Amino acid sequence: METSFASADFARMKGEIVCYLHYQGTKPDKAVQRILKGVKKERYDGKLLQTFSCDTGGKLPFRHLVVIGLGKKEESEPDFLRRAAGLAVRYSGARKEKSVSVFLPKDLPKGTDIKKAVQSLCEGGLLASYRCTEFKTKKDELFEVEKMAVASNTKQSKECLEGMRAGTIMAEAQNYARALDDQPANIANPKKIAEWAKSLAKEERLAIEIFDRIRMKKMGMDALLAVAQGSAQEPLLIKLEYNKGKRLPLYCVVGKGVTFDSGGISIKPSANMHEMKYDKTGAMNVLGIMRAVARLRLPIRLIGLMPLVENMPSGSAQRPGDIVKAYNGKTIEVLNTDAEGRLILADALAYAAEQEPEGIIDMATLTGAIVVSLGRHAIGLFSNDEGVSEKIIEAGEETHERVWRLPIWSDYGEMIKADFADIKNISEQGEAGSITAAMFLKEFVGETKWAHLDIAAVNYVKWPHPYLDKGASGIGVRLVTEALAKLPKKKG
Ligand code: BES
Ligand code: ZN
Ligand code: ZN
Repeated sequence: METSFASADFARMKGEIVCYLHYQGTKPDKAVQRILKGVKKERYDGKLLQTFSCDTGGKLPFRHLVVIGLGKKEESEPDFLRRAAGLAVRYSGARKEKSVSVFLPKDLPKGTDIKKAVQSLCEGGLLASYRCTEFKTKKDELFEVEKMAVASNTKQSKECLEGMRAGTIMAEAQNYARALDDQPANIANPKKIAEWAKSLAKEERLAIEIFDRIRMKKMGMDALLAVAQGSAQEPLLIKLEYNKGKRLPLYCVVGKGVTFDSGGISIKPSANMHEMKYDKTGAMNVLGIMRAVARLRLPIRLIGLMPLVENMPSGSAQRPGDIVKAYNGKTIEVLNTDAEGRLILADALAYAAEQEPEGIIDMATLTGAIVVSLGRHAIGLFSNDEGVSEKIIEAGEETHERVWRLPIWSDYGEMIKADFADIKNISEQGEAGSITAAMFLKEFVGETKWAHLDIAAVNYVKWPHPYLDKGASGIGVRLVTEALAKLPKKKG
């Protein structure tokens, strides 16, 4: 879907569908007031995402009006704009209209400015326009809205254009990551993902390096290789770099890329096992973030690392009880082969720390326990640094990919001390599962400032969402891109 900005008065808007956003209890534009005059309160009252629609019958220069409620102004949140734009695109799609305009309300929700408001509308519309339809063969039953215009009569059109550009880059990067994440494991194996990374590197002029099994063996990445050894798919570690060689502050993003997580010998129950094709979300988010950061031309150097493996049970698979040595020399007792994400991240994080960045952010669908703690409305944040945490939390409020920080006190570290190696990959106590997973990762970052985002379950949409369809959510792409934009650009 294409996005554009139009400077226009509401009463002069043209086209097929125009959506008018309206706060409950406020007077809308005169033309809308006339139309809503005889409408019963029960029918339309301006409640959040309540709609009233009608053909304008020549009373206005466009054909069809949709009034979308934003709820009470004092209770409104910036994300309501994404939801309203998402609704506008879904509504237009259902009516098989190719284009839609959304008129920006004069009063903005608190905590937002005009640039961010336009950005949010663009994001909501674009995110709602993505659906995974690639594998449906009855193409004539599919319909896509092709254009969304955000319109306003404001004098601040420069800010509006900036908001549109930022929103378009952010949401397109998220949709790009979603489209890759939605590919099932029989297609999206490490080799295929490497091809996607190569295309991205070419398009965005990123440096790329691909480490194969032999190279990783030489480097001593035995934790990653142990996870991969049960699968017929060869593992890969992909390193992308933006602004390579430039004298700019370096950051690293690392994403768990388990193309399918069967659990290995500690096999998962079969119900919902298919959802483990989304266990590569962290890595797909890395691709989305590299794309967004490059297109936004952020003044940083950025390394993106994607450890890619498939976790399968077989005659060559690792066994519970195996002991392996990670890239930083620490030994790990593998007590559960389903706690594989932390094993591949161990090597990738140790490698990231070796690059001496200002900070590392990793994203991983790491634990079922985080779903129990936070459900689908928050990402678990674990960090050894106040500054990095603060920026991520702020970014989460802005992008509505909200995070909640959990403790990583050394007491929890005691829970993963092993009998026969330095650490074990699970705590048999079975308590504080997300925290002990984070404590495990912490062993591999040394003194580097680091934040870990546990994105399990928020990474795919299972239940109705105001602007994300069923399937990969791409949640994390806008969050981390925004955090990178906020993080210090000088050593300190
Ligand atoms: N990929 C899973 C975590 C997960 C669960 C992601 C649900 C998305 C939805 C991870 O590799 C895993 O299996 N973790 C285990 C750890 C346990 C063995 C300590 C878990 O959470 O059960
Ligand atoms: Zn697992
Ligand atoms: Zn996993």
